[in-house]
Amino acid sequence: MVPEDGARWLIQEEGTFPVLKRNLQETNLFSLDLLMNTVMGLSEDVRAVAQELIEQESVTIISHIDADGISGEAILSQALSRAEIRVTSVFVRQLEPLTMRQVPRDESLKLFCDLGAGQQNLIKEHGLSGDEVAIVDHHVSQPCDQDYLQANCLPYGHTKLSAAGVAYLVAKEIDSGNTDLAPLAVVGNVGDMMAREDCGLIGPAKEIAYEGAAHGSVEIRKHDLNCYGISTRPLHVCLSYNDDPFIPGISNNPGGALRFLKNLGVPLQDSLQRWLVWDEIPYEDRRVISSALAQQLLANGGTIARLFCESYLFPGERERTPLRNAQEYATLLNACGRWSRPRVGGNICRGDRGAAYREAEHMLTNHRAIIRELLQFILDSGVTDISHLQYIHVGNRFPDTIVGIGAGMALSKLNREKPILIMVEQPEDPSLTKVSLRATEQMLSRGMDLQEVATMASEKFGGAGGGHRIAAGAFIPRESEQEFIRHVNELLAGQCANKGAGHR
Ligand code: C5P
Repeated sequence: MVPEDGARWLIQEEGTFPVLKRNLQETNLFSLDLLMNTVMGLSEDVRAVAQELIEQESVTIISHIDADGISGEAILSQALSRAEIRVTSVFVRQLEPLTMRQVPRDESLKLFCDLGAGQQNLIKEHGLSGDEVAIVDHHVSQPCDQDYLQANCLPYGHTKLSAAGVAYLVAKEIDSGNTDLAPLAVVGNVGDMMAREDCGLIGPAKEIAYEGAAHGSVEIRKHDLNCYGISTRPLHVCLSYNDDPFIPGISNNPGGALRFLKNLGVPLQDSLQRWLVWDEIPYEDRRVISSALAQQLLANGGTIARLFCESYLFPGERERTPLRNAQEYATLLNACGRWSRPRVGGNICRGDRGAAYREAEHMLTNHRAIIRELLQFILDSGVTDISHLQYIHVGNRFPDTIVGIGAGMALSKLNREKPILIMVEQPEDPSLTKVSLRATEQMLSRGMDLQEVATMASEKFGGAGGGHRIAAGAFIPRESEQEFIRHVNELLAGQCANKGAGHR
């Protein structure tokens, strides 16, 4: 849609860093509606869900505790409140029989966000009829004889749009003035790894970011440094933590990174002797550093394809805080959700920069420390390597909500040819084991699909699972652990063989 003030947008190249510039005369280069029209199905589903919502007196949102679920809930609940619809929210770790009990049996419409598509039979078993439910999701949809109203981007081929992205489309359909919610959709999209493979958002997720830029709440930096921590970590630390791409002499080597930067002669500290973060380093210095990093990679036989990415910053947020960019904002929300305080994250999404933000900062510190500990535990203990899988059981040492994150991080330091499977005890129900699976894009291109594996293998043993091709999870009976692993391995082998056969 053309912004109401008729503004137009284009990208202007400024040296190495093209930036988005406002241009009131140019024709519209990025039109979300245009794109939506090319996928009429999704836009019709979005419209149908929005229509159903605005006819309600009250809505209960049931959302997921991760960054995508928290930002998606914040988008939907704000859009509904603005439309004067009563809204209450429930956050669940997973939609399963136990957590279904949190779904109230009242008159409100039940709006499932970032979950629900894959659990429609469970929703039906809970006694919810077609006119009591709407789903905003991006997960694989489960066949079900009850037809639930659903806005889901996945059946339309949008694999790089998160639930918060779909929630934003619904919010805009409720009221076109809801474009101020675009930064939350960007956080959800980035938090759910939608920008990782392509070093930036693509398709509708990208268009949403551009709407945020049009609104002035998102700053898009093209060819920015592809590194986590650009707003909070001293640059040498930020660089040394990054191993995608692995830069010899810098990755995993803070001392080496600092020496490398000092040799460039650019200021690395401010007048108070604080280390500068990438976000606050002047443009010219960023160019010098970027060129030197590219040279370092090339000189060591690497490629610079993944050195740069499109990054999404929030200029309205305080500098040197995790709220300044989408990646770190998403981690902050994940820290809240995964440590059972999703509402604190929700309050941050609604603008609380006082008590909620302070509480979230504490959780973030704790979150990072435990994930570091988990990562070290995985590396120290080692994983068991079988033909198509590597796996580890962490007993009851770590909470089940974070093991998947740690496993994903460990993957880059382990065998990069095989997915990792991590198991953890379920403290609330010792008869159950939580499983998380993580892969890389490269493994997906070999035919692997963890969502399919988690769903099929868990069903075989009476459990339940789901997720995405690249990251999936499941709950399984404890006594089936070993058989489950064997079956997962077989399924992965079968997927690779099928892909291979298809290529012949
Ligand atoms: O818990 P974890 O981070 O490993 O979850 C990865 C993905 O798998 C998420 O999208 C989550 O919603 C999904 N999942 C699922 N069913 C489970 C566990 C996880 O669909 N029982």
